[in-house]
This record gives sequence, C-alpha cells and structure tokens, in this order.
Amino acid sequence: MMKMLVVASLALAVSGPAAASLEIVKKARCVACHAVDKKMVGPAYREVAAKYQGQADAAAMLAAKVRNGGTGVWGAVPMMPHDATKISDDNLKAAIDWILAGAPD
Ligand code: HEC
Repeated sequence: MMKMLVVASLALAVSGPAAASLEIVKKARCVACHAVDKKMVGPAYREVAAKYQGQADAAAMLAAKVRNGGTGVWGAVPMMPHDATKISDDNLKAAIDWILAGAPD
C-alpha cells in the first residue's frame, strides 16, 4: 500500500509540471501556431527541442525570441511579439523549459 502511494505521488510529480506547461501554452494561444509534434504555422515544439539540444544559452535566447518576435530560423513566416499581458515572465520561462525538455506529455 505504502509503495503504491509512493509510486502514485512520483507519477504526479512527473506529470504535474508538464501538464501545467501545456496549460500555459494553451492559455497564451501558442497552440494557434504550434503543436507538440507536427509543424503548423510555427515549428513543432519537439523539433525546437531537437534543434537546440545541448545549447546552453537556448532558453534565454528563445524566451527573448517569443517576447520580441522574430523570423528566419524556421522559414519566412514571422512569429509576432508576445508581451507580458499575453504570457508572464514566469509562465514564459516554464513554457520554454518544457519545450526544451522535448514537450513531454
Ligand atoms: C501567429 C503564430 C504564432 C504564435 C501565436 C506563436 N508562435 Fe512561436 N513561432 C511562430 C513561427 C512562424 C516561428 C518560426 C520563426 C522563425 O522561423 O524564426 C515560431 C518559432 C518559435 C520558437 C522557436 C524560435 C527559434 O528561433 O528557433 C519557439 C520556442 C516558439 N515559437 C515558442 C512560442 C511560444 C511559447 C508561443 C506562445 C507564447 C508562441 N511561440 C506563439 C509562430 C507563432
């Protein structure tokens, strides 16, 4: 019984933050242009994770890109800027960490 409880709470600890991050990108409407595993208007989050794997400054660079907008990395379509009314600093950081972790379910 004890063991089951431990396993259950471990599973929660793993799925909790990922689920929260998915909620963040849904709320901020990132999902209008991005999916986890297929290209839409913007690149799939898992492709983004693969591209920047092992790049130490990726999180800061990508957070700034989402804030300020930009183009030319994945094609000619620009991503528009997202100010703090669209996504707070904390939520942006959580979303980028989740994307770079491979957008786990
Ligand atoms: C209107 C469509 C649209 C929305 C909404 C949008 N994006 Fe994007 N996103 C794009 C496009 C297009 C690109 C590719 C830009 C490029 O090629 O440089 C992109 C690129 C990215 C990248 C990779 C940037 C790079 O330089 O490799 C990340 C990370 C990202 N978006 C996260 C987000 C997050 C988080 C949100 C929500 C706050 C969001 N996007 C909302 C269209 C969108």
